[in-house]
Amino acid sequence: MTDGDCPVGRSAPDGAEVLGTAGGPGAAEEPGGDRGGGRLRDGESYGFATEQVHAGEQPEPGTGARITPVYLSAGFEFDDFDQASARFVDTQSGYSYTRVGNPTNAAVERKLARLDHGASAVLLASGQAATAIAALAIVQAGDHIVCSSSVYEGTKGLFQSNLTRLGVSVDLVADPSDLGEWERLITPRTRMLFGESIPNPRNDVLDVPAVAEIAHRHGLPLVVDNTIATPFLFRPLDHGADIVTYSTSKLLTGHGASLGGAVVVGRGFDWWADAERFPQFAAPAGGVSGPSWIGAYGSDAVGAYLRDAVAMRFGPTQSPWHAFLLNQGLETLSLRMSRHVESALAVAQWLESRPEVVGVDYAGLSSNAHHGTAERLLPRGAGSVFAFTVDGGIDAARRFYNAVELFSRMTHIGDVRSLILHPATTIHVQQTPEQRRSAGISDGMLRLSIGLEDPADLIRDLERGFAALA
Ligand SMILES: Cc1ncc(COP(=O)(O)O)c(C=O)c1O
Repeated sequence: MTDGDCPVGRSAPDGAEVLGTAGGPGAAEEPGGDRGGGRLRDGESYGFATEQVHAGEQPEPGTGARITPVYLSAGFEFDDFDQASARFVDTQSGYSYTRVGNPTNAAVERKLARLDHGASAVLLASGQAATAIAALAIVQAGDHIVCSSSVYEGTKGLFQSNLTRLGVSVDLVADPSDLGEWERLITPRTRMLFGESIPNPRNDVLDVPAVAEIAHRHGLPLVVDNTIATPFLFRPLDHGADIVTYSTSKLLTGHGASLGGAVVVGRGFDWWADAERFPQFAAPAGGVSGPSWIGAYGSDAVGAYLRDAVAMRFGPTQSPWHAFLLNQGLETLSLRMSRHVESALAVAQWLESRPEVVGVDYAGLSSNAHHGTAERLLPRGAGSVFAFTVDGGIDAARRFYNAVELFSRMTHIGDVRSLILHPATTIHVQQTPEQRRSAGISDGMLRLSIGLEDPADLIRDLERGFAALA
């Protein structure tokens, strides 16, 4: 069977005719449930903390298990001949194969979509997979992306190396706070603008509403990587963004134990205003004939396409076990984030007061160039990942880095543990000194990810770093 022969979202690359209903039945028509509510009432509003615990969750009818179980099952049995066929033509909800939909993943997808005010969410195997799948759903050969230069280096590599090989071109916005530069880089072939809400290590907070306004004026979607903010600090879709991506390996799961990613799709963007611009969504959802994606899925057509025509075929599925760990993390997200940002501000203020420090790149500080944007968009706090620069260049950074004991020397962020990294010799090591300079990465810069330890202990640990400079 070829893709063209398949009903919606069913490719069978290995000849095994697996798969099931589009969006995973969990996304669209969970047996006995709705998309986002779980035990929350439809149409009623609840606070973030209530939603992070309850949204998407549905007690197990068979066992009464209150926590969504880990359904480690590659496939799901069909009752009979007709049900098997029904799952392939979407007339009956239910699961068939975990790459298409899994009950554990579906519960977490519903929760994340609700927390982010999205139409739907798709869990993926990593943050890189989330960025890749979001981009591959939107662009094709010949298209162009305008991307903030402050995004994660892995994102830049994906766009500039991998997507370029597929015929997609990319221009980086050198100064993402220069709105004119975003606009100047848009070409007739541009199909997507991409940025991070709180980039690291420089914390040059993206003015999402302003960039979204530019994107929409040109009929383009804005995709925002919201990994560091999380929906607790910032909901990009409420501020004009159209798609949100996450590395859930970071703060959403929170405990540094597992990798994951997610894409949340909003409802606001009119993908059909110009049918030639995004022809993939106007194509028949079933491959050769029948209704288009918009005809079949309405306001969640892009979410359905992203899941069924892109994620499911490229295949970076989130393991249900890691989805379970993500769900555990989400249940305490607001509590952890409040503590993360409170401690980050305390540590940043203390660092700023040290004579050995020549700069602290934390947008939560009133002295920071991006503080105004942070105050406007991030009233709950400016995140917990930032950089500071010690006087004395690389030698000073090395001595500081080697002297700390509580901070873990790791290339990771958003853990309960506090982490430290020297960006110039790790994440940015492949760049020329000139590229690093223009990206604001100096030799004396150290990046911190502030965890959940007592801030006084973290400050005492950083004092060891300063003592090593003496
Ligand atoms: C902001 C941001 N986005 C995406 C990623 C990629 O996520 P993952 O490592 O889960 O693939 C990272 C990883 O560090 C990141 O920091």
